[in-house]
Amino acid sequence: MHKNPIIIANWKMNGLKAEGLEIIRALGNYARDQKNISEIVICPPFTLLFPIAAALGDLKLGGQDCSAYEKGAHTGDISAMMLKDAGCSHVILGHSERRQGHNEQNEMVREKSSRALEAGLTAIVCVGETLEERKQARALEVIGEQILHSLPKISSPANVIIAYEPVWSIGTGLVPKDSDIAEVAEFIARIAKGVRIIYGGSVKSGNAAEILKLNHIAGLLVGGASLDAGEFWRIINSANIHA
Ligand code: PGA
Repeated sequence: MHKNPIIIANWKMNGLKAEGLEIIRALGNYARDQKNISEIVICPPFTLLFPIAAALGDLKLGGQDCSAYEKGAHTGDISAMMLKDAGCSHVILGHSERRQGHNEQNEMVREKSSRALEAGLTAIVCVGETLEERKQARALEVIGEQILHSLPKISSPANVIIAYEPVWSIGTGLVPKDSDIAEVAEFIARIAKGVRIIYGGSVKSGNAAEILKLNHIAGLLVGGASLDAGEFWRIINSANIHA
């Protein structure tokens, strides 16, 4: 088990202002009453960045995506500098919902990650295989390609986190066997030396501790379960207990 795991909440396209602030308020109350050693990053929708930044306390803030460009005529996009300006320290990039839903290729993820680093953000780069790729025993090959081509050109273990998120595990309740997560984590650790590796995909309070115990897994990326403050705090706590 690693010291000081990082636990990241990915709210995706969920939460109006009152709901988002309520989750932050509840987390603040838990944090007052219980010791916490984890680094906690909340990634709300863009519209909530400023109000949540004002209510954060010890939590950190992250974006769910940023533009591949620095600024200019890119209607609807949000730049890495804008995220920084809103109080973000992190940004999730290359999430499978963007790779699949917005046709983001590795090269685009690399450009986005590069802009994130230039803006002083930590890039949380997501990689992971589809079910079909796993069945074809191509998981490591696909993940290796993703890492090779979507990490920023000039990155360091200090400003990049790799999130292993099997596509088939996201939002499905399906979690790979411990041995499969461990195999991928080992593989990533070999090719991206020193970079923090986290796991995401159907993380709940019931499986968080077990996943965090796996070799090379230094944190969790939590989607659905992060929208329930009590459940998210239980996940944070399992990191605390086993640290
Ligand atoms: P999930 O999502 O926890 O709802 O499976 C994880 C993610 O997409 O980051």
